[in-house]
Amino acid sequence: MKRGYFITFEGGDGSGKSTQIKLLQDFLTEQGYHVLLTREPGGTAISEKIRDIILDKKNAEMCDMTETMLYAAARAQLVQQVIKPAVDGGDIVICDRFVDSSIAYQAWGRGLGDLVWDINRHAVGDYMPDLTILLKLDPMQGMKRIKSREQDRIELSSDDFHRKVYEGYLNLEAMDSDRIKGIDASQGIDRIAEQIRDLVEDLINR
Ligand code: TYD
Repeated sequence: MKRGYFITFEGGDGSGKSTQIKLLQDFLTEQGYHVLLTREPGGTAISEKIRDIILDKKNAEMCDMTETMLYAAARAQLVQQVIKPAVDGGDIVICDRFVDSSIAYQAWGRGLGDLVWDINRHAVGDYMPDLTILLKLDPMQGMKRIKSREQDRIELSSDDFHRKVYEGYLNLEAMDSDRIKGIDASQGIDRIAEQIRDLVEDLINR
């Protein structure tokens, strides 16, 4: 059976990932592809439990290393249990966030640097997405967009943290431009969706 594709979405909080993921899922399903949608942290029963611990506002004392390892633990489970089998079986897997989030949020945002890659190498090995869509939006604009909803422990971090996360994403995009494709997320929803479809069609027709 032909292998499927592994596509991830990345971006700061409030960058509009959920809307675009839904539009891409509908588009690909209409085209006859079998699409599996999942998210990080989460996507398996174990990983969803880890998610609850990570994002719980009551866990304000959580140290950065614990946070990093919990994300990696949730990821290891998701890759083994869901992503790999689905892609091997021919599905298009769309994942809301993946290891790039840990690089942006923990390596850059929390300032843990290279050891975040070291930890994640154990979690994902060399299993990386075929394509990563990065929705680029000024972090302060992103925070403004999510202000009206209840925020989780990570979203409640300082403005300076969110600025560093964004810087981390820009660095990742520059370092791995073959895989990571940045899109200006301040554009209209339809215009963004069109660019994402073009990138995914390029991948499938490659
Ligand atoms: P979520 O509600 O899924 O946010 P979003 O809808 O913006 O994706 O919460 C995930 C939060 O966890 C988000 O603030 C980003 C953060 N995160 C990390 O800090 N490191 C990681 O490795 C991952 C996957 C997420």
